Amino acid sequence: MTDPDFLLPLAKPLADPVPAGDLRTLERKARDCRNCPLWRPATQTVFGDGPADALAMLIGEQPGNQEDIAGAPFVGPSGQLLDRALQEAGLERERLYLTNTVKHFKFEQRGKARLHKRANAAEQEACRMWLAAEMLQLRPKVVVALGAMAAQTVFGRQFRVTRERGRWQALPGQARGLASWHPSAVLRMPDERREAGFRELVEDLGRVAEAVGAGGKTAT
Ligand code: URA
Repeated sequence: MTDPDFLLPLAKPLADPVPAGDLRTLERKARDCRNCPLWRPATQTVFGDGPADALAMLIGEQPGNQEDIAGAPFVGPSGQLLDRALQEAGLERERLYLTNTVKHFKFEQRGKARLHKRANAAEQEACRMWLAAEMLQLRPKVVVALGAMAAQTVFGRQFRVTRERGRWQALPGQARGLASWHPSAVLRMPDERREAGFRELVEDLGRVAEAVGAGGKTAT
């Protein structure tokens, strides 16, 4: 592990060396990643997307069916919900870096359907070097963890989104971060809870917009 790794906004140091290179190089290298078995059934690696000088880094869980086919994060139903939330919060998606904790779609084949399966701890660990590499390139000052998988990767295993959603956490490297609902968790909420869940996501992203000075509001 090299010195700068200590400054990464990640809860645990890495065992694997952090791949080097700019974002395009990393994306190319990640296409051939064989660090865990998820690459085999997946269509492709779904690397992060966004500018190297992004205002904030948003981290999801893992690509879904549509992301696996398109090769880009957050393009399916949860991406559409996220887009609406970003828009309402006054954040432009093009100015953010969107990525996932795990970069391959994990699924179970049931007839023609590919049913989402959560990446396990070993698969998450195997993929952490790519998230670290993205962080080393971006040096994000603001990190947004969407859902428990990303939140625990960034803030530690004890972190609970249900308890600490929307609260700023200090991170190494003079960064700060907050966690919010994963858009697909909002989609899965019961009908009577979904609108409130969406509002909470917008509220949390609104805090991010304020922090980065987007949406015409002042930074705090
Ligand atoms: N869910 C995620 O966590 N990430 C995506 O890219 C799509 C769905």
